[in-house]
Amino acid sequence: ELGPYAHFMQKEIHEQPRALTDTLEAIIDDNAFSPALFGAEAATVFNEVDSILILAAGTSYYAGLTAKYWLEGIAQLPTSVEIASEYRYRKSVPNPRQLIITISQSGETLDTMEALKHAKSLGQHLTLAICNVQESAIPRASRLVLYTRAGAEIGVASTKAFTTQLVALFTLAATFAKQRGLLSQQEEQAYIDELRHLPGSVQYALNLEPQIREWAKAFSNKYHALFLGRGMHYPIALEGALKLKEISYIHAEAYPAGELKHGPLALVDKNMPVVVIAPNDALLEKVKSNMQEVSARGGELFVFADADSNFTASEGVHVIRTPRHVGVLSPILHTIPVQLLAYHAALLKGTDVDKPRNLAKSVTVE
Ligand code: F6R
Repeated sequence: ELGPYAHFMQKEIHEQPRALTDTLEAIIDDNAFSPALFGAEAATVFNEVDSILILAAGTSYYAGLTAKYWLEGIAQLPTSVEIASEYRYRKSVPNPRQLIITISQSGETLDTMEALKHAKSLGQHLTLAICNVQESAIPRASRLVLYTRAGAEIGVASTKAFTTQLVALFTLAATFAKQRGLLSQQEEQAYIDELRHLPGSVQYALNLEPQIREWAKAFSNKYHALFLGRGMHYPIALEGALKLKEISYIHAEAYPAGELKHGPLALVDKNMPVVVIAPNDALLEKVKSNMQEVSARGGELFVFADADSNFTASEGVHVIRTPRHVGVLSPILHTIPVQLLAYHAALLKGTDVDKPRNLAKSVTVE
């Protein structure tokens, strides 16, 4: 069942080109973004929507944080993202025109299910679930559904579920943009082309595994690590830190790189490796100056840089080149290396990668 892989997590990381291709099949076949993908009622429901609230837990929450950049940036829909277990226990301001999006791999996470019920009890009836398990509890309780087609995810750490959630959410943003008259036909075709090429770029990133395995040696004997990203790559830094924590038990934190000087810079020394997600986007120069702040304090940098940026390695600065910049889909691509880094750090530490201590695949308790 594992084929050439040592663990389900490794297998599932490598299944991502296929999982993305399957999840994108309908869009690529239609060559268009269509509300029908989200259910028969979707075109009507989407017309009522004036804003979005995303509710989720763990890795799925980070997918939501990433989606906010697309939903606001492409579809101009005000978007809030909240941890499900927080939302249900506070007084919020219900808005019946707000679309409640739940994101859940299993579709059974109790915190997310209860948050959805709470939203509905407040009169919020525009609901959409992004889910990987057919007919599970959360999609059954939602008006609209988009199923990701990652296939069964067995490793406790979410990998292919996350990247397929991201393409589903990008598709949603593009669909809204189109319906709201914000996407020209040319732009629609350009996005679909980018989606079509994504599985190939992900495969290229997977081929970096031997280099990343070498880097993992610098993490497996450390107690702490810091992950930095900016903009839509900040949630990917959060995801990288979560993966490292949960399977290798190395304490890791993520920060938006611009926040470094507001506190965490005090932690930086040679014993805390700093991972930088440095795509070749508008924020690259800002990220470079944040990196200098780390280097100046003796911190060791491990940089994932796009092939088309002119990064060079130097003393204390290690660089791995990811594929050339893939534009607005870049967070999906940059997820692959941080998954592989966590996996190989955990292997070196000898932890139970597929079943980390204290964790369950589907959290159906509060
Ligand atoms: C992390 C991880 C968890 C889940 C979270 C939500 O790798 O797997 O953080 O993402 O428990 O689970 P779902 O998506 O099934 O609701």
